[in-house]
Amino acid sequence: MQGFWADKRVTVTGGAGFLGKHLVKRLERMGAKVFVPRRADYNLTALDACMKCLLEHPCDILIHAAAYYGGIGINVTQPASLYYTNLVMGANLFEAARLTKTGKVVAIGTACSYPGYLEGHLKEEDLWAGPCHASVVNYGLTKKMLAVQAQAYKRQYGLDSIHLILTNLYGPGDSYNPERSHVVAALVRKWVEAEAAQAPSVEVWGTGKPIREFIYVEDCADAILLAAERYNDATMPLNIGTGVGTSIRELAETVHDVTGFRGKLVWNTDKPDGALMKVLDVARLTAVLDGWTAPTNLRDGLAKTVAWYRAHKEEADAKW
Ligand SMILES: NC(=O)c1ccc[n+]([C@@H]2O[C@H](COP(=O)([O-])OP(=O)(O)OC[C@H]3O[C@@H](n4cnc5c(N)ncnc54)[C@H](OP(=O)(O)O)[C@@H]3O)[C@@H](O)[C@H]2O)c1
Repeated sequence: MQGFWADKRVTVTGGAGFLGKHLVKRLERMGAKVFVPRRADYNLTALDACMKCLLEHPCDILIHAAAYYGGIGINVTQPASLYYTNLVMGANLFEAARLTKTGKVVAIGTACSYPGYLEGHLKEEDLWAGPCHASVVNYGLTKKMLAVQAQAYKRQYGLDSIHLILTNLYGPGDSYNPERSHVVAALVRKWVEAEAAQAPSVEVWGTGKPIREFIYVEDCADAILLAAERYNDATMPLNIGTGVGTSIRELAETVHDVTGFRGKLVWNTDKPDGALMKVLDVARLTAVLDGWTAPTNLRDGLAKTVAWYRAHKEEADAKW
């Protein structure tokens, strides 16, 4: 992989974010010339800013990892902001990429784009098999539009791009802010705080039965860069995940073990569960990446995450 990236000019939108930082670290290590447009300098919702970014920093590969999103709360309180920011940012970046003759766009998508009412291992072909889940439609659909735009821009302008569909990430650098955090970060914070407070118990919502998939952020960054190097089909998205389903109960119990918290785990079954199973099919990913599978198992990934969180609690709790 080193050879491919050496001296490549790579722009990473969202490069200062949770995933983006891990991408940038790897790219720099492999000799790429990386540019990260920050929102304060290049608000990518404006076409002018996208043009300015790509004209001032022409690139061989544009990794679009910027997004405005969060957990269920922000989907309820800011549906219009999620919709507008992500839709317009993606549309304008693609347009600027073709106008500036950018080599290849790597669009970072999300499993929230999959039909919300399909269960089981989700294949790339299933992307259009039904509507997004109502709770994430304003975010999921805008990311899905990037897959449509990739096909249209390839057909009409010959712009090379790929669309990568990511499952849930966790790991060092995530947001642990309750307004924003996802399930792993929320559980890690709860347990670490319960342990520090010597609390007798910790409450978790639901029955713990739903099955979800979690990929360690560093594994995900590796897979994205391998896919950027080897995958070129603008007409077919590519899933990035582990293919391994984990129940919320198993996740919670593993966090419990890893933090060393000895209090009781209490399930609040009055709270809703959500879809029963949501796991990506990774057959295409494994084929494209010559047998690659995510090397970090959940327990090891959580141990690294908890250690990082303990060392960076203040910064992690404040991160949007
Ligand atoms: N985390 C997950 O579990 C997960 C799962 C599936 C898919 N994804 C996707 O993976 C990507 C990275 O997610 P993440 O968790 O790393 O996100 P994050 O930590 O929230 O970082 C997002 C970045 O986007 C940038 N951004 C937002 N609005 C912008 C704007 N208007 N103009 C320019 N930049 C803007 C921000 O830049 P500044 O720092 O300069 O403000 C921020 O650093 C996203 O596309 C997300 O949809 C994430």
